[in-house]
Amino acid sequence: MNLRQADPDSGTAQRLLQEQAQEAVAARFSLVGVRHPLLNLLARHAVEDMMVRQRDNLPPPGGPPLFTQVAALDTAGLPDVADDPDAPPVPLDVDHLRIPALPQLFMELQNALGQPHVSYERIAAIVSKDPRLTASLLKLVNSPHFGFSTPIETVSRAVAASGIRRVSALALGTFVLGLYRERPPLVVDIQGFWLHSVGCGIAARLLAQRLGRSDPERFFVAGLLHDMGWLALCSAAPDRAERIVRRIQSTGCSCEEAERLELGTTHAELGATVLKTWNLPAFLIDVVRSHHAPLATVGDNPPVDGALEVHIADAVVKGMGIGGALDARIAPLDLDAVDTLGLSGHDIAAMTNGLVEQSQALSRLLQGD
Ligand SMILES: [Fe+2]
Ligand SMILES: [Fe+2]
Repeated sequence: MNLRQADPDSGTAQRLLQEQAQEAVAARFSLVGVRHPLLNLLARHAVEDMMVRQRDNLPPPGGPPLFTQVAALDTAGLPDVADDPDAPPVPLDVDHLRIPALPQLFMELQNALGQPHVSYERIAAIVSKDPRLTASLLKLVNSPHFGFSTPIETVSRAVAASGIRRVSALALGTFVLGLYRERPPLVVDIQGFWLHSVGCGIAARLLAQRLGRSDPERFFVAGLLHDMGWLALCSAAPDRAERIVRRIQSTGCSCEEAERLELGTTHAELGATVLKTWNLPAFLIDVVRSHHAPLATVGDNPPVDGALEVHIADAVVKGMGIGGALDARIAPLDLDAVDTLGLSGHDIAAMTNGLVEQSQALSRLLQGD
């Protein structure tokens, strides 16, 4: 019997629903398994979430499939992956990424934030110059998340209520989303991409808070921008992006392997290049570069501070099936290193609790919908 044939209220329908959810979630965990207690718990939360969504007729956590128009791409000039899996990588010229510039207003905001004792009024005056940013900020502070009993109607009150750091993170998110909103990449589903990114930012911030890290807002920004290189690649060279996805699909290899084989570099490294071009802080550049290899060391340097948190947040978001990622499977991770953080089941529960709804709400808000 299949799900359609079963009475929806019957035990059989429940069992079939559960089996279906378990199967979908198992695919996301296929590279890491569910033996580790924290991953096991994450998988159980994901199954539960999927079943509740089906029972209550709620929309699924993810967006539509990541790749939308693959068939329309002109890949005639490139050899087929299946024909020649061992072809050497064709290096990507970074100039080819044509990285768009962040608006001047962002630089103005960064300069003001860099000055000691900057006033809320000064920040509000800069924010007010951008209608989209102003609208996002007012929507954010008036959202249930902030829980103010009376509406906040002025930008300076909104800046005071949300804090300068959060305004800065929101501004960056709004501007970066705006850059690719004007010319969305052909092959990537931009809604799904931002949902994944926003979810990762929210989970990374929460994890940083629970671990007592200073300035958790920077973890939100790092999570928001962690896959920026992939967006830049899809935007500038969709044919190369498509070949990477085809290689993952045909061989089952990890996305880093596929990227190295095709490009000789990865979306993490490309993302770091994009952030460097924008003159963003070293913390963000380093975390983005290391988010798939958070424990790697270069020379005598220790692993990048903050990369492990973003990597775990990425895993949580993928585990819950939020948005669209290049590879929907959670990337392999040294679980002993995760254990050194001393995370508990409560931390995983806190990160997954309401994450789907929060990600959907903030993603809509940042996109000005
Ligand atoms: Fe990534
Ligand atoms: Fe990601």
